[in-house]
Amino acid sequence: MSAFEPKKVPPVEIDSFWLPKQASTLAKDIDAGWDAAMLVSIIFFVLVVGLAAYFLVRYKRRSASDVTSEVDHSTKLELTWSVIPLGIVIALFFIGLKGYVNAAVAPAEAYEINVTAAQWSWSFSYPNGTISDELHVPKGRPVRLIMSSTDVVHSFYIPEFRVKSDIIPGQYTTVWFEATEAKETTLFCTEYCGKAHSNMLAKVVIDEEEKFNEWVESGGGTKEVSPAELGKSLHESRCAPCHTIDGTRTIGPSFKGLFGREEALADGSKVMVDENYLRESILEPTKKVVQGYPAAMPTFSGMLTDKQIDALIAFIKTLK
Ligand code: CUA
Repeated sequence: MSAFEPKKVPPVEIDSFWLPKQASTLAKDIDAGWDAAMLVSIIFFVLVVGLAAYFLVRYKRRSASDVTSEVDHSTKLELTWSVIPLGIVIALFFIGLKGYVNAAVAPAEAYEINVTAAQWSWSFSYPNGTISDELHVPKGRPVRLIMSSTDVVHSFYIPEFRVKSDIIPGQYTTVWFEATEAKETTLFCTEYCGKAHSNMLAKVVIDEEEKFNEWVESGGGTKEVSPAELGKSLHESRCAPCHTIDGTRTIGPSFKGLFGREEALADGSKVMVDENYLRESILEPTKKVVQGYPAAMPTFSGMLTDKQIDALIAFIKTLK
């Protein structure tokens, strides 16, 4: 088994004592709710623990004749410590509700991007057919993500945007945000989804609208690179969790020396690894499973364009 290689992604910037940078319009409200809950918790922690420590000393039994006083209740005191916290939690509820409603309902004119999560990669699909493994979004424009999973439950999280949502197979979940700064950051999978969960990361690129539009028009920047180069970067983001390129055995067969080889299949038959077999295995991975390996691969149908599949095949061919 090869050593764990973390995916190269931009760092998450921290700009206050403990919270990530606020890089979306939602961040302020959400942080206000967090700060309010934190402040209330700290005040009550100090109050409760402080009083407990004080009473421990103050009402300690000092001699054998010291007897416990007959404790009675105090209606006034009990009302006080019920009504004040009630008021505080009602206030917290409304602070939270404001942030929640704002985060739940996307503006009607939002730009829509489809997100597909799979073990263990991300795929972002744009209205013009561009498919990318990086999430590119325009600055200063609301973006709505329509997300689904091809296999298990994943969770989408961009700390700097304060957006997070589970992604569930067989249904759509959505999030929206409006990025406030042209920069790069990282999105995480935050639902344990198997062996390579911790490496299920993707780069987020926020660009000025014009540059973003150019990127989408150019098919996600795929026009400028050769198929083998594109395939190499696709391997890193999509295939590397399970398929090495140096011959090491991990979850699936290594890509090294794969092309042109005869593989023994789980059903006892044999197959020649050519363009058609590779394409079929990307789109219908469980159809012809190599002997000795689990039928664990998700389909990449709808997650890769034909051009990207061609590029992956071109890259695999170079791995002699
Ligand atoms: Cu996908 Cu964790």
